[in-house]
Amino acid sequence: MIFNVLTLFPEMINQAVSHSILGRGIRSGHITVNCVNIRDFAVNKHGQVDDAPYGGGAGMVMMASPVFDAYVSVMGNKETKPPVIYLSPQGRVLTQKICEEIAAQPEVILLCGHYEGVDERIIEEIVTDEISIGDYVLTGGEPAAIVLMDAVSRLVPGVLGKADSHQDESFSDGLLEYPHYTRPPEFRGRKVPEVLLSGHHGQIDAWRREQALDRTKAKRPDLL
Ligand code: ADE
Repeated sequence: MIFNVLTLFPEMINQAVSHSILGRGIRSGHITVNCVNIRDFAVNKHGQVDDAPYGGGAGMVMMASPVFDAYVSVMGNKETKPPVIYLSPQGRVLTQKICEEIAAQPEVILLCGHYEGVDERIIEEIVTDEISIGDYVLTGGEPAAIVLMDAVSRLVPGVLGKADSHQDESFSDGLLEYPHYTRPPEFRGRKVPEVLLSGHHGQIDAWRREQALDRTKAKRPDLL
């Protein structure tokens, strides 16, 4: 899967995606992260990419033309148009289901805004979807793009090894995950639940299911 990221801070993105499972997915060729620096398309030699808002008011607005030119540079002569996702607090709030929809795409373009956001005409002209990572305001879209790429990449076939399978995990069946334990069998007087040491797979599955249900009821009853 290819993520094209239109950003003023490519180093922030490249640094974040180079680690852990996402970094491994990139090195193994399952994921490509292609950052395009919007400032390379600045309107003048001073590197200007933002300007004061028409109508007055605080803050600056990202100008339409550098963003559009960055978009055109990614599109090249692609035959199909990938979705263009603008990370913004005004978007649909990201969920596991939305991550699954995005993971089904071969390629997406992520647009990271800054300051007061981007000129509205960019949203009208190129954006196909607006996504928020939660009801709070970030200083820019980059952390949101990183969250989205992380959550989507692990759904791309081949990115997670067998060892990190996501069959049972939180949200994949609408429930939170059951608790996990590893050695030793006792830690500061706290014992691993007996059933997990029993080798009885039927009983273990039933216990995990019950734990998942209990946890969801206690911590996130809204999911039920
Ligand atoms: N940009 C600023 N705040 C954001 C949020 N909550 N989600 C996505 N992008 C953002």
